[in-house]
Parts: sequence; C-alpha cells; structure tokens
Amino acid sequence: MTASQNVLDYQGNNTIFLVWLFKPQVEPKEAFMRVCALVENLNNSGQTRFPDSGATCVMAIGHDAWLRLGLPKPLPKELENFQPIVGAKHSAVATTGDLHFHIKGSGPAICLDMTAAITEVLSTVADCTEEVHGFRYWDGRSILGFVDGTENPHGKERVEFGLIGEEDAAYENGSYLFVQKYIHNLTAFKSLTVEEQERVFGRYKMSDIEMPDNIKPANSHIALANVGDDLKIIRDNMPFGNMATNEMGTYFIAYARTFSTVKKMLDNMFVGLPPGNYDRLLDFSTPQTGTLFFAPSATFISAVAA
Ligand code: HEM
Repeated sequence: MTASQNVLDYQGNNTIFLVWLFKPQVEPKEAFMRVCALVENLNNSGQTRFPDSGATCVMAIGHDAWLRLGLPKPLPKELENFQPIVGAKHSAVATTGDLHFHIKGSGPAICLDMTAAITEVLSTVADCTEEVHGFRYWDGRSILGFVDGTENPHGKERVEFGLIGEEDAAYENGSYLFVQKYIHNLTAFKSLTVEEQERVFGRYKMSDIEMPDNIKPANSHIALANVGDDLKIIRDNMPFGNMATNEMGTYFIAYARTFSTVKKMLDNMFVGLPPGNYDRLLDFSTPQTGTLFFAPSATFISAVAA
C-alpha cells in the first residue's frame, strides 16, 4: 500500500510556492534523486519538530520533466502540458514548470529554511522561476475579502476527490496539481458596492453564506466553478501581496484525482457556460501563470530518493 504526500492537509498559515525549471544543458537526474531524499527528510523532520501544526513539503513534477528524468512509463494517465484556454474576453495562459514545491508551516521561518535547503540542492541544475509567499488572511479570506475554501471536500471526501485510486494503479495515492498565479485589480473590485462584490462570488461577504439559487447570478464564480457534487477538487489557495510593486493576488492551487475535473471548471470560468457567460471574477483577476504537475505518492518519492 502506498502513502500519499501531504496533499490532503488544510492550507496552514504560511506557505511558499516554488516553481523550478531545469537548465537546458544539464543532466538533472542526480540532483532530482537528492531532492527526493530531501523532501522525505523535511517531512519527517517537520512532523517531529512541529507535531501539532505540521511543517510539510509536497513536490510535484511536470510532464516534460517526467520524460527528461526518465521516470516510469506509461505516465500518469492525465499528465500533459497544460494548454491555454482562450475565452472571448479572458484567457488562462499556460506556462512551463519542471518541479513545483508547496511548502507549509505555522510560521515563516520553517518555510524559509525548507526553501533554502531545496535551493541548495537544485540551484546548479535548475532555475527558480516563481517564488510566492502566501499567508493566511484574517479568517481564511482571499485578498478580495471573501472566505476562500468553504465548499472544499472534507473528511473521507478529501481522499475520494484528492487521490488517484485503482483507475491508475501504478500511481495510486498520487494527485494532479494545477496552479495559477492570479493578480487582482483591487482598485476596481473595491470600487464595487459590497452587494455588487457579493454578486461576483455568489456568496455573502460577511457571513460567508451562499446566495439562494434564485438570486445567485449565472456568471458568479461559484455558479460556474461548481460542476456537480460528484466532481470536486481540493483547493489550497493562498493570498499574497506586495504594496511596493502593487501586486496583490491569489495563488490558486488545486489537488485532484482527475485533471479533467479542473479543466471542466476552467472551461466554465474562461469560455463560459453557455459560451460567453464567463466568470465575473475574471474581470478583477488575471492569471499570469498556469501549469499542470503530478504529485506522486510519498512511497514513489522515497523509491527514487538517493
Ligand atoms: C469557490 C475564490 C479561482 C474553483 C470559491 C470561493 C471563493 C473563491 C471566495 C467561495 C468559497 C469557497 O467555497 O471556497 C477564488 C479566487 C480565485 C479562484 C480568489 C482566483 C482568482 C478558482 C479556479 C477554480 C476555482 C481557477 C477552478 C479551476 C472553485 C470551486 C469552488 C470555488 C470548485 C466551490 C464552488 C461551490 O461548490 O460552491 N473560490 N477562486 N476557483 N472555487 Fe474559486
């Protein structure tokens, strides 16, 4: 029986997200084996040092890196390079990434130390192309002021919707990881009245309660992102912000048993349902990245570790 990585955990208070791209003329296999050993070490250490709050690191691998590293074939069934989704008004861009690290801790210090340790192993063979420091904003709100994560699966549903089962037995307890770094136009969003903001999401801002179906707009975020009770994903979004560069955003991150579920949500949001009825949230939020990775089981990582 394989063990999963910590993909079913809740968001935590502090996060660092890293995307790494292998340099063109190097052989990255040896460094990759060492980083697998490091990830195993960091997770064991995090559990021992912070048994209550946890300090974890989930590593995921992109399609091209999987091939370049000579990892097993056939590949996980739905692992591919994410293709852009082009709607009439808004598009989900596709960007490259070989390795993704999702680092969580109760404070920034442990997250920074884990990032430094990973950098030490990888920096000769790869470049870090994204580093986003996410934080818990008040009572779990996105930087737009609405609670983010409420309708996530809980309990046994997290296993059912978050981890691969016997449908792809070689990759059991792995998970598809999809990420997008969104920048918000906060000035435009804040110029809306609270009632107008609520119609963007389809939920009431203060109470975090869903609008009744007869009031919820068809182009609200939750009307389009909800693709049915049997098709769910685990969202671990974190806000980030930098006043000096005026970059306030959401790092959207989802673990899923099937990437096709995430794709269906993205199609609804960007193309619209019916086409043209796109997600109003996109008028205030622009993705700068979009990459699909695969987070194999912890057992898989341990077998590769050198
Ligand atoms: C719900 C924020 C992007 C999928 C929500 C909610 C908020 C939110 C505040 C309502 C509370 C909740 O249930 O979590 C955001 C922000 C985004 C973003 C700030 C980026 C700017 C996305 C994307 C997807 C997605 C890209 C899918 C690919 C969902 C789903 C729900 C949801 C499935 C629950 C719908 C329901 O069943 O009610 N999001 N979201 N979100 N979001 Fe997003």
